Order: sequence, then structure tokens, then C-alpha cells
Amino acid sequence: MITIISSTNRKNSVSKKLAHIYQGILEDKKIETEMIYLDELPEDFIATALYDQSGKNKLFNTFREKMLRAEKMVFIVPEYNGSFPGVLKAFIDGLAFPNTFRDKKAALVGISSGVQGAGLALSHLTDIFNYCGTHVLAQKPKLSRIEENLTENNLSELYHSLLEEQVDKLLRF
Ligand SMILES: Cc1cc2nc3c(=O)[nH]c(=O)nc-3n(C[C@H](O)[C@H](O)[C@H](O)COP(=O)(O)O)c2cc1C
Repeated sequence: MITIISSTNRKNSVSKKLAHIYQGILEDKKIETEMIYLDELPEDFIATALYDQSGKNKLFNTFREKMLRAEKMVFIVPEYNGSFPGVLKAFIDGLAFPNTFRDKKAALVGISSGVQGAGLALSHLTDIFNYCGTHVLAQKPKLSRIEENLTENNLSELYHSLLEEQVDKLLRF
């Protein structure tokens, strides 16, 4: 079972499209997936699910439980202002510590309009996950210029092969 997280709450996001493509690659290999879409988070979770409100938001609790159950995770991460989306950090801060991330494994995929492919975002996130005890797969595809490489639901051959390579490594990780 692999848990795929679309790491932005922006509606109709490219991250969500890519999460579905990633799910398709895993399904072709008969691997089960669980999907987590941050655009389905309760809109008020920052006020109702963090710190002293922890555990009190029923909908947010379903996200917490899925993340606690997850063993191998894939984060699809768009580049926002040179890093990853703030909503992802707020989400992480609302999860059970330390058991959500301790001794688990994660793979990261970066996407951006510009040339970096969210490289810095993936480094920032790797630091956080390593701090929390999650091992991060070294191969982190950086899908730059995403608009030129993903039209409708068709990903370019090159980017598809990068994801396939990562999946093969993740399954052996
Ligand atoms: C708030 C925001 C900040 C962004 N900052 C950057 C950036 O720093 N560098 C970049 O190349 N693209 C940036 N972009 C473009 C996104 O990386 C790109 O559109 C990506 O496909 C968006 O993914 P999403 O559709 O999953 O939100 C930004 C987009 C948004 C919405």
C-alpha cells in the first residue's frame, strides 16, 4: 500500500493530476494506493485542528488517521515562492507527532512552471521529513516547465519515464 499526497489545496491543481498519473503507474503494477488531497482539507483546519484543538476536527482526524496508517508515502509537491506550499507545512504540523513520520519512507516529486522543478522545495521538505524520522528516497524527479510537459492528462514521455524509475526504486526502498 502506498499513500499518495497531493500537496496543495489549490483547486484543479496540476499536483492532483500528477497524483492520478502516479496512481495509474502503481495500479499497473498491481500496487494498492490510498489518496490524500489537501484540497479536501476542512477550510478552517488551521483554526479548528491544530495545537490545543488537536483531535477535535472530525474531518481533519480522518486525514490524521490515514497518515498514521501510511507506511510508504509519495508527496507531489508544487513550487510556491521557491519552496513548498504553506498549507502542506500546516498539514504536517497538525499530524500526530512523532508516530506519523517516525521510521517511515517517502518519495518526493517536484513540479514547477519555472526551471527549478521545485528542487529547493524538495530539499526543504527532505530536511523536515528527516528531522521527523522519515527516510526520503534519493531519487526526486524535478518536473520543471510543467505546462509544456503536461497537457490535459498526458505527461511527456521523459517525465513519465522519470516517474516510472522512481516507482521502481520506491518499491525496492
Ligand atoms: C502561490 C504560487 C507560487 C508559485 N511560485 C512559483 C515559483 O516560485 N517558481 C515557479 O517556478 N513556479 C511557481 N508557481 C507556479 C507553480 O509551481 C506551477 O503553476 C505548478 O504547476 C502549480 O502546481 P499546482 O497546480 O499543483 O498548484 C507558483 C504558483 C503559485 C500558485
